[in-house]
Formats: sequence, structure tokens, C-alpha cells
Amino acid sequence: MQAILEQLEAKRQQALLGGGEKRIAAQHKKGKLTARERLTLLLDPGSFEEWDMFKEHRCTDFGMDAEHVPGDGVVTGYGTIHGRLVFVFSQDFTVYGGSLSEAHAEKICKIMDQAMKVGAPVIGLNDSGGARIQEGVASLGGYAEVFQRNVLASGVIPQISLIMGPCAGGAVYSPAMTDFIFMVKDTSYMFVTGPDVVKTVTHEEVTAEELGGAVTHTTKSGVADAAFENDIEALLQLRRFFDFLPLNNREKAPVRTTQDDPERRDDSLDTLVPENPNQPYDMKELIVKVVDEGDFFELQPDYAKNIIIGFGRINGQTVGVVANQPMVLAGCLDIKSSIKAARFVRFCDAFHIPIVTFVDVPGFLPGTAQEYGGIIKHGAKLLFAYAEATVPKVTVITRKAYGGAYDVMASKHLRGDVNLAWPTAEIAVMGPKGAVEIIFRSEKNDPERIAAREAEYKAKFANPFVAAHRGFIDDVIMPHATRARISRALAMLETKVLENPWRKHNTMPL
Ligand code: HXC
Repeated sequence: MQAILEQLEAKRQQALLGGGEKRIAAQHKKGKLTARERLTLLLDPGSFEEWDMFKEHRCTDFGMDAEHVPGDGVVTGYGTIHGRLVFVFSQDFTVYGGSLSEAHAEKICKIMDQAMKVGAPVIGLNDSGGARIQEGVASLGGYAEVFQRNVLASGVIPQISLIMGPCAGGAVYSPAMTDFIFMVKDTSYMFVTGPDVVKTVTHEEVTAEELGGAVTHTTKSGVADAAFENDIEALLQLRRFFDFLPLNNREKAPVRTTQDDPERRDDSLDTLVPENPNQPYDMKELIVKVVDEGDFFELQPDYAKNIIIGFGRINGQTVGVVANQPMVLAGCLDIKSSIKAARFVRFCDAFHIPIVTFVDVPGFLPGTAQEYGGIIKHGAKLLFAYAEATVPKVTVITRKAYGGAYDVMASKHLRGDVNLAWPTAEIAVMGPKGAVEIIFRSEKNDPERIAAREAEYKAKFANPFVAAHRGFIDDVIMPHATRARISRALAMLETKVLENPWRKHNTMPL
């Protein structure tokens, strides 16, 4: 028996060493942690239950039969984050460059299947050279098996990807189909084809970092939701992020007890909106002052900054916040911001997370770039997402809510549950200047008359009361009471039931 135990221990030690001391040192030299060190930081201490530590590849080509590293380049299993169950896989770059073999894919699929059975999220830590070249199509098949599971798990359990090294070629499509992608600055990159292929095909000279680094994907492409400074920060932030999410689509997000009074008033909000309607203000100030303890986890903070999305809590309950940002493009909706917010709204809807929307939107961004880019189709995504959502929807209009954008931003007409407005709200087809230029075109050479018309228009429409008269706004509230009013609305909506008609799936404008 002793000999058997020693044998097991020796095998375990071999597995724990992955690709060996030399490769571990090389990993550290790059500023990266190993697959196991990462899991130690991500999961609660001592909670990790590893599966398939001894699984090996079955490849015999190119001398592969001579070398078998137990675990085959990926560490898989389950554990807890702040006591809540999560399934994990962590690719081990020290073993065949973390490349995905058939066996490696089977390990990932196994934990994904189990996560679906018990209803728990999957977090993937990606650090891989892509398909195991020696295995050929067996490896490609392995990727497809993972892709298929990503799709079936979508909207059932949250799926999160943290890119901590290379992620190239078709391999990018597994993270792309998960709900959130986070990256580590300087050490991670994602691209469909690398710099060498790009140079051959398009003659562009570009570094891996420029082509698919964390900065690129959080500022230019919008592929990633956030970038962190290093492995440690990324993993700790992921633990914080995880707490906002439910385990699956049948559960609600965990309620975190808070000392922050849900009725807390904030008098500084009464002066947030400047007197001049063309002067911007920072919508983030409102969000941070409304959510519990100012704790707001913003997603895509450096991409399509004219709209803000992220998670916060109100009275301990997770809410998804969507807000126009008047500081950028005056808060106009454009292609990027519509897509950014639409995806977020759909995630919240799939996972029972109420949506709180703060509105200050002068309309859709005009111009050929937007029209040629398909703003009609892309803007419709946000409209569609809001209209489809059956979770509690609470909307607060702080200033402008003009034109189609008024409709889009969780208006009463799109089944908004509680629609509130600040006294500074202006709800109309368009701003006074544009409106007067159109309907009083014949008076355009008479500045006095035009000024009088603008004043008349402002008095009539640049306020929340026309909408309130019709019941499109449930109440006009004092800005300082915003948190209390949202909190009460969400408490009332706790038991909301609303179902969409049966169908196989909708045909939203993708
Ligand atoms: C097998 C691989 C591998 C791979 C790396 N290795 N990638 N083994 N299959 N795909 C091995 C290397 O041989 C090396 O082994 C070890 O991992 C570390 O790799 P290095 O090249 O020394 O590391 P580094 O210099 O950091 O470069 C990392 C890299 C590079 C940029 C990822 O390894 C690379 O370009 N790899 C190939 C990437 C690729 O083209 N993959 C296929 C993409 S297509 P030793 O023994 O020397 O330590 C794809 C299709 C998926 O993935 C399709 C899904 C539908």
C-alpha cells in the first residue's frame, strides 16, 4: 500500500510541475503566473477540486508518443469564490504551449457539461498557442466541441473568459461566445490571424500588441470588457466581478447586505445638471452616488464612452446600469454604443438582473459614417434588447430624451416598469433650435421671431410634464431622492412576472 501511495504522490508531483521548472521560470519571467498559481488566487483557499489531473494526450505522430505530461496542458475542476460554486479551466502554457489537443478539449468539455447540470458559471483562464499542431483535425474537432457547449450554455450559466497569454486563430471564438472577456495588459493578445499573416496578406506592419493586445480590444474593437495591469489584479477583480452575477438563469444574483441606507438622499444631485442644456456633466457621478457604497463595476469603460454600462447594487441587489454619458458625443447613441449596451441588456435579461437606465440623450449620431456603417440596423439592436427584456426596468430621465432615442432608452412604451424624470428633463421629438428651424422655416430670416418661437417651444416641450400628463412618466422626482425612488421601485418589482410569446427564437437585427 505504501508503495502505491508513493507512486500516486510521485505522479501528482509530476502533474503539479506541468512543463517543468525551466518553463515555469520562463512563464514567471514574462510576468505571468502559472495555471495553478492563477487558480490559487482566483478561488477560495483550499476550495479547488481538480479533475483529470492524470489525463494524457493520445497523439503518436511527430514523436509525441515519447512524451506525456499528466493533465495535458490544462488544469480543470471546480471550487468556490466567496463561497459560491464555479467551474474553472486554466490553460498551462508550460505544457506544449497550452495548446489544445483532443484530450485537453475533453477536459474542458467535461467541466462545462457538469456546470450545466448543476447550474454554475464557468470561468476560463486562457493562455494557449492554439490548436495542438501535432494532432491536426482532432484538435480542431476539440475546439468545435467547446464552441458547441459555449452556445448551449449561453443564457443558462454565466461564462467568463480571462485572457492571460496568447489566444489566436479560431481559438478566439470560444471566448468570443462567452459573456465577458477580460484581458491582462502587455501579456495577453487575441487575433484571428497574427502579425506575420497580416503582413503577407495586407502588407500591414503591426505588432502583436497593436493587433490584439488588451488596449486594442478595450479601446478599438470592443471585444474585451476590461483590461487589468497584471495577473494578480485581473484575478482579484474577477473575484469581485463574480459576486455581481447569479449562478444560473433560474437563480437571482446574491444579495449582499449593506450598511448603505436605501433611502439615503444626496443633495449634491440637485445641482448635477448644469443650467445650460449644452453643457455636459459626468453621468458617472450620478451612478456612483446612487448605487450601494459607490461600488460600480464598469464594463468597457474605454470603448464607446458615450454610453456607460456596468453592475452595481441597490439595497444589496445586483442591478445592471445603462446610462448615456453627456461628456462624450453629448451622449448621442451611435453604432458602437448601441451594440455595447444591447449586449449588456440581453445579458441582464437572461440572468434576472434588473436594469436601471439613466437617460440624457439628444438622439442618434447623424452623419454618413453612421449611416453607411448601418446605424439603422445596429441602433435597432438596443431598441430590440430593451423591448424584449422582461426583467424589472427602472428608468430615470435626467435631461434630454429626444426623438427615437427617447423611445429606445427603456421608455414606458417598451414596457418600462417605473419611468421617472428629474424636473430638468426635456422630452420631445428634438431640441428647440432644430425644431423651430423646421416647423418655422418661413420665419428663418426674422431672428426675433425665431427666438420667440424657441422660447415658446422650450416652455411647451423642454420639460417632463407633457410626458407626465400622458402617463409616460410615472413621476417627476427630486434628484436628491433618486436612490430612494429606484430602491422602492425595485422592491415593488421583486415579484414581477412577464413573459414573451413562445417562439423558437426571435430574429433580432444582428
Ligand atoms: C503544439 C505548441 C503550439 C501549438 C506552441 N507550442 N504552440 N505546440 N501546438 N499550437 C509549443 C512550442 O513548440 C514550445 O514547445 C512551447 O509550446 C512554447 O512555445 P514558444 O514558441 O517557445 O513560446 P513563445 O515564444 O512564447 O511563443 C508563443 C506562440 C508560439 C506565439 C503562441 O508558440 C506560436 O506561434 N505558436 C503557434 C501558434 C499557432 O499558429 N497556433 C495554431 C493557430 S490556429 P517547447 O517544447 O519548445 O517548450 C488554431 C486553430 C484553432 O489555433 C481552430 C479552432 C477552430
